[in-house]
Amino acid sequence: MAILVTGGAGFIGSHTCVELQQAGYDVVVYDNLSNASEKSLERVEAITGKPVKFYKGDILDRDRLNEVFEKEQLDSCIHFAGLKAVGESVQKPWEYYENNIAGTLTLVDVMRQHNCKNIIFSSSATVYGDPAEIPITEKCPKGQCTNPYGWTKSMLEQILSDIQKADNEWNVVLLRYFNPIGAHPSGTMGENPNGIPNNLMPYITQVAVGKLPELGVFGNDYDTPDGTGVRDYIHVVDLAKGHVKALKKIQDNSGLSIYNLGTGVGYSVLDIVKNFEEANDIKIPYSIKPRRAGDIATCYSDATKAKEELGWEAEFGIKEMCADSWRWQKNNPNGYDD
Ligand code: NAD
Ligand code: UFG
Repeated sequence: MAILVTGGAGFIGSHTCVELQQAGYDVVVYDNLSNASEKSLERVEAITGKPVKFYKGDILDRDRLNEVFEKEQLDSCIHFAGLKAVGESVQKPWEYYENNIAGTLTLVDVMRQHNCKNIIFSSSATVYGDPAEIPITEKCPKGQCTNPYGWTKSMLEQILSDIQKADNEWNVVLLRYFNPIGAHPSGTMGENPNGIPNNLMPYITQVAVGKLPELGVFGNDYDTPDGTGVRDYIHVVDLAKGHVKALKKIQDNSGLSIYNLGTGVGYSVLDIVKNFEEANDIKIPYSIKPRRAGDIATCYSDATKAKEELGWEAEFGIKEMCADSWRWQKNNPNGYDD
């Protein structure tokens, strides 16, 4: 039996393929390559020494999905495929709802027709909105999202929960990621954003490599220790390992479960700049800019539940996250486009 990894050529998906293969699972990747390069999968193969079966396809394409389920013996699905750019989702809400929600509905329908009823879904801390409590436990109520991307995550959590409730042959794990950064320590795999990055760490690494002149820090008047936004950054390899643990759980008929995947530690934007500079001995010029619309002051997890129930906790610290992000960017200034 193999694991279907939708969006497996992307940033988190490709790192998860490495951990799955290293844990002894066979993986089948399904990705339309709208935000990824097939080269990421060659890098997975180079690290693990095992071939990755790849199908190019869209989660909206029912016929193609059926073909994959007919050819492969699939036991579970880790579902990463989706559009994820917050700002773009405000400009293109229809495209986000269509891709993420209609795509997931199609995937889940094909899965149930083939009696594959185990799914791990990539959700996000964004579902907590401006969180009612810090650190955020899974009991914290979901909040108002500030953009269509966030709503797709919140709605899909509801949809998958309802499907599991109606048919208890389904096992559903909703993983709420905090802020994934870092890269594989080999320096051969990492995040490969299109155009100017929206997220903090890829922006910093592009400043470090000389592609961008300076970092804009979005606001220094938040109610945080240094006035800049605080987030729970998590190494992508730790995040990937969390999926392997979740898979073990799901295969024991766990029903519906929800976990935060974070470190439980919050760092400000200026903490990240300082740690990046110290870890890599590179200066990151920055200037203070106005707040970015939709940003909140503070967001970090209580990650106790994943530790207790999955036996998972983050192992990498902030210095390793900064060093690994930089190793990837330095070795691959144009990402997978070299
Ligand atoms: P990514 O863009 O690198 O990976 C997503 C992958 O899905 C890409 O390879 C893309 O080509 C593919 N894809 C998109 N639409 C598709 C479709 N219709 N059919 C088939 N493939 C499709 O992003 P990532 O950072 O690896 O994120 C993976 C998942 O985790 C996403 O669902 C994202 O929303 C979620 N997530 C990411 C973050 C983050 O900060 N990176 C935080 C929380 C949640
Ligand atoms: N920031 C800057 N300058 C930049 C980019 C970001 O100061 O150029 C700041 C932001 O204001 C924020 C922090 O850095 O305080 C982190 O911003 P990111 O854009 O890296 O991440 P967000 O916390 O805004 O959002 C990310 C993902 C979302 C996901 C969320 C929670 O982009 O998809 O984490 O998981 F929902």
